[in-house]
Amino acid sequence: MPTVIINIKQLVNVREENKLLRGKDLAELPIINNAFLVIEDGLIVDYGCMEEYTTGNSQWTINDKAETIDAAGATILPTYCDSHTHIVFAASRENEFVDKINGLSYADIAAKGGGILNSAAKLANTSENDLFDMAYNRLQQLMQLGTGAIEIKSGYGLSLENELKILRVIKRLKDVSLIPVKATFLGAHAFPIAYKENKQGYIDIIINEMIPAIAKENLADYIDAFCEEGFFSIQQTETICNAGIAAGLKVKIHANQLSSTGAVQLGVKLNALSVDHLEMMDDDAINSLASSNTIGTLLPTAAFFLRMDYQPARKLIEAGCAIALATDYNPGSSPSGNMNFVNAISCIQMKMLPEEVINASTINAAYAMEVENELGSITKGKKANLIFTKPIASLAYLPYSFGTNLIDKVMINGEFV
Ligand code: NIG
Ligand code: FE
Repeated sequence: MPTVIINIKQLVNVREENKLLRGKDLAELPIINNAFLVIEDGLIVDYGCMEEYTTGNSQWTINDKAETIDAAGATILPTYCDSHTHIVFAASRENEFVDKINGLSYADIAAKGGGILNSAAKLANTSENDLFDMAYNRLQQLMQLGTGAIEIKSGYGLSLENELKILRVIKRLKDVSLIPVKATFLGAHAFPIAYKENKQGYIDIIINEMIPAIAKENLADYIDAFCEEGFFSIQQTETICNAGIAAGLKVKIHANQLSSTGAVQLGVKLNALSVDHLEMMDDDAINSLASSNTIGTLLPTAAFFLRMDYQPARKLIEAGCAIALATDYNPGSSPSGNMNFVNAISCIQMKMLPEEVINASTINAAYAMEVENELGSITKGKKANLIFTKPIASLAYLPYSFGTNLIDKVMINGEFV
């Protein structure tokens, strides 16, 4: 039976056709004021102005088999796509948060065995079932915050056994979750302590043991690497990504977070789906990204949490880059999966416009995790994964009123969750 949602104050990001948005197109956000929307079998099947509906110029007005939901002036947006997270982790790291307050840097903490290695040690002692339960609970909370698709990375395993453990948890999440889940293999997140003096030894394990095992069980969609001084060099990243490509995985790279060393250009060369972070961008990196098909995914809450410079969003947009936004939800650099806050901070600190942040967190983010044919906009045939806001005066009120939860209800596949 179709469901007709009536009295929608603003129906946001209504698009007949899919398009990855770059440059100034990011500021164009198509909206229908005073709208209705029709859902059938969990999919969007029609939409239009309330005027059409009330004057009987719509087939839905007289369709007595349709159920009606009165949105009572709510604004409706497509749910967010969070294309970069690490939500399978065993424990929080608020002790390091305090260390940082006391003056240590992210790199200092990593060098003394904290950071990613700390998370890996805890994960090694946690069962697959417990990891699943924790990640499942996080996912339920994120859906309430408006996330309607999620990408999740491994990378706190750093051994064959534990990387597979995380990826099997992600596979179980894919199987049971109401929202699309994409899996990324991030074995190249840090060198385990035992391989500190034998880096090639760990790279050999990634290439000769982990990737074949992952391919055999079909556990990943993407391969990622933390390409950074003190982590994986350009050359090491390229070797690892090429092994992933040979096994059928597309590339995503943690690029230019702490330094500008050519990671973005490498991502472009490898035809990466996205290069993510981008705090430290020089002109070469910006131009390379702008003239490529690779999406630049900005993770401003990581910069916020680590007290780093924000990503140069305006420069990237002016250069014509395709920009997406994501949370980077992880226990070390962004212990929050709140896309509403990502949008707010992107407006406040990176001077992105409200229209730009909504496009970057919905349609472009859908492209950054290859769910653009099912999510990311209000388009006929796409899934009815929708955010219903509380009464708001205008769309800009969402990022303006940061820290206030303005989501009233979230619908996934046409059902409220
Ligand atoms: O995306 N930069 C590398 N990886 C994560 C942080 C991981 C951690 O500190 O646990 C990130 O910020
Ligand atoms: Fe990350």
